[in-house]
Amino acid sequence: MTGLVPEKNSAKGKKILIVGSGGREHALAWKISQSPLCNELYVAPGNAGTEKWNVPIKADQITELVRFAKEKEIDLTVVGPEDPLSMGIVDSFQSEGLKIFGPSREAAKLESSKAFAKAIMYEAHVPTAEYRTFQVKEEALEYIGKIGAPIVIKADGLAAGKGVIVATLFDEAIEGVEKIMGGAFGSAGNEVVIEEYLEGQEVSLLCFCDGITALPMVAVQDHKRALNGDMGLNTGGMGTYSPPPFWTRELEKEVIDKIALPTLQVMRQKGTPFTGVLFLGLMITSQGPKLLEYNVRFGDPETQVVMTLLQSDLVPVLEACTEGCLAQVENEWSKDTAVCVVMASQGYPGDYSKGVPIRLPQLNNDHEVIFHAGTSLDNGVLVSSGGRVLGITVRGSSLKKARESAYRIIEKIDFPNAHYRSDIGIKGLKGIK
Ligand code: AMP
Ligand code: GLY
Repeated sequence: MTGLVPEKNSAKGKKILIVGSGGREHALAWKISQSPLCNELYVAPGNAGTEKWNVPIKADQITELVRFAKEKEIDLTVVGPEDPLSMGIVDSFQSEGLKIFGPSREAAKLESSKAFAKAIMYEAHVPTAEYRTFQVKEEALEYIGKIGAPIVIKADGLAAGKGVIVATLFDEAIEGVEKIMGGAFGSAGNEVVIEEYLEGQEVSLLCFCDGITALPMVAVQDHKRALNGDMGLNTGGMGTYSPPPFWTRELEKEVIDKIALPTLQVMRQKGTPFTGVLFLGLMITSQGPKLLEYNVRFGDPETQVVMTLLQSDLVPVLEACTEGCLAQVENEWSKDTAVCVVMASQGYPGDYSKGVPIRLPQLNNDHEVIFHAGTSLDNGVLVSSGGRVLGITVRGSSLKKARESAYRIIEKIDFPNAHYRSDIGIKGLKGIK
């Protein structure tokens, strides 16, 4: 049954709180605000795009968020970013009897510790890159000396997607270890994971999870590097499109059966069942799909395209995850293609200035949305306030049409010195025969 609403969830008038302030949270708020089940929406702290729902509490102010949720009698809280999850926001809400969508602190270690994630992959027999972990710099350097390049060096802890060095040259690998273990990422670099370099197409598969069932969303291809042609530094993501042309039902089934479900089973056996979004960062190699990483949340900017393609209601799925009845739910997805092009501040992911005034065109249809990320209002004027600033998201009947519309909208945006990639989705076009 499509978009099934479990009986006990069908009461109207829910109060929903979204935690976070990025493009992902704007996309979630955009979708949830369309749900007939939601009659009060709050976003903490939000951005200029979510202004009418904003509450001035930061995503890491967990005590204040709990207090707010109790005071307002919030029915469901949805957490966007990884930091509050790894700080235990879900545990804090649940201990107060509040319903919240996301993994517990212990389950969130799948993202917050790369060494933990690798150990779970190993236990669940998940196909992944060969790896070793090191706490002593000299031993890490010696290992690289033996294996050589290309090789991948990862800081163990959270480093906002920037603690990974894909070293094609031996010297880059040595520099990578020196940088991570030399304190560039603080305590996140106390331990490094050094792993085999994998080649293939990268894809993000986000799955709703209730501890037992994994329900996949549409697959997405992200563009992690700052510059065209996948050059430059790694970023949080400069743009996405969905679905990739190489993605098939068979591939999806293989990923669910070999990666998602065994992971959920191991997490259950450990007494830390995983609920929320399990985000699988995959490399589709010549030997089949291999897992690069887990994230424990909606992706950004994956969520922007996923939400524009989701036709059924999001609220019942979120609730089913928190109530352990996800097996009864099916989502309905558009057959269209969606593209999201990120406009960032000049200099991102390095230093960038804030407070640049922005003027946006009026869009009058439901398949073109400008999601805000690092934006705020300064005396009523829209200004930039972060690295990634806007996500121009378009759903269209083909990838070609969707990307053309997205870039046409960008031409109408007045955002001086904005940086964006002009090749988002090109990989997908090349894959279409
Ligand atoms: P991660 O944060 O682990 O996803 O790594 C960031 C990016 O580095 C990924 O999106 C990949 O593009 C790349 N990467 C990570 N691990 C590997 C690997 N073993 N082989 C090749 N590229 C990798
Ligand atoms: N776009 C990748 C992420 O959200 O981690």
